Amino acid sequence: MSLEIKGLSVQASGKDVVTNVSFSLDPGKVTAILGSNGAGKSELVLGIAGVMPISAGTVLIEGSDITGKSPDIVRSSGVAAVPEGHKVLTQLSVDENLRAAGSLRWADLEENLRKTYERFPELAERKGQLAGTLSGGQQQMVALGHALMSAPNYLIIDEMSLGLAPLIVKRLFRVVEELQAQGVGIVLIEQFTDLALNLAGHAIVLRSGRCQYSGSAKTLLANPDLLDEAYFGAGHHRAGTAIGA
Ligand SMILES: Nc1ncnc2c1ncn2[C@@H]1O[C@H](COP(=O)(O)OP(=O)(O)O)[C@@H](O)[C@H]1O
Ligand SMILES: [Mg+2]
Repeated sequence: MSLEIKGLSVQASGKDVVTNVSFSLDPGKVTAILGSNGAGKSELVLGIAGVMPISAGTVLIEGSDITGKSPDIVRSSGVAAVPEGHKVLTQLSVDENLRAAGSLRWADLEENLRKTYERFPELAERKGQLAGTLSGGQQQMVALGHALMSAPNYLIIDEMSLGLAPLIVKRLFRVVEELQAQGVGIVLIEQFTDLALNLAGHAIVLRSGRCQYSGSAKTLLANPDLLDEAYFGAGHHRAGTAIGA
C-alpha cells in the first residue's frame, strides 16, 4: 500500500520544469516537499494530479499505474490535491462548493459531507454563506473539505499556510495531524519548514525542478545548514522560516 512517484518529469509550456523526482508515501505518513519559489513544487503536484503533462517516469497507487491519467481518474483512484491559493468558487455557498466536489461519481456524498462538517464546525455554521465572503482561513477549510469529499487515501496539500495568520495555520495543521492519525498519507508542501519537517518522516528538497535532498525529515530539521544548501546550493543562506510563536 503506497503512493509511488518514480523518476517523474513534468512539463509546462513544452519544457521540463520538474526532472526525475522520486519518492514514495505510505498510509498514515507525511512526506514534506520543500524548496524556494519556482523550484517546481506546484508543478510536481499538478503532474501527479493529472493536470500537467508528464514527460518521464511513473505514478503508482497501490501498485496500479495512473501516470498521465485524467484528474478525475487520479482522484477516483484515491489521490486528492488541495491546490495552492485556497481556491474556492466564490459565487457559490459553502455547501454548494462541497457538493460540487461530490457531484461526479464518488459514493457517499451525504456521508462525506457530514464528516466534512464534523471536521470543520466553522463551515457547518456557514453552509449558506457565499464562499467569497469567508476569511482566508475559512476558504482554506473549504478547499481542504473539497479534497476530503472523495475520502482520499492520499492527500497532497500545496502551501496550505500561505497568507494565513499563525493561529489558523496551527488549526489547519491539527487537521493534518488528525488525518494522518486516521491513516491518510499526506504530501505536505510548506513554506514553514519546521512545521512540515516536524510532521514528516521523509523530506525532499527541490531546486530548479531537481531533487537536491531526499531523506529523513528529522535530519534536515536538526541541520539547518544542510537545508540551506539543498535550497540554495553551498554557501547560501535562507531567511528564517519559523512560524511566529
Ligand atoms: N504554465 C507554465 N508555463 C511555463 N512555465 C511554467 C508554467 N508554470 C510554471 N512554470 C515554471 O515552472 C517552474 C516551477 O514552478 P512552480 O512549480 O509553480 O514552483 P513552486 O511551486 O515551487 O514555487 C517555475 O520556473 C515556473 O516559472
Ligand atoms: Mg507553488
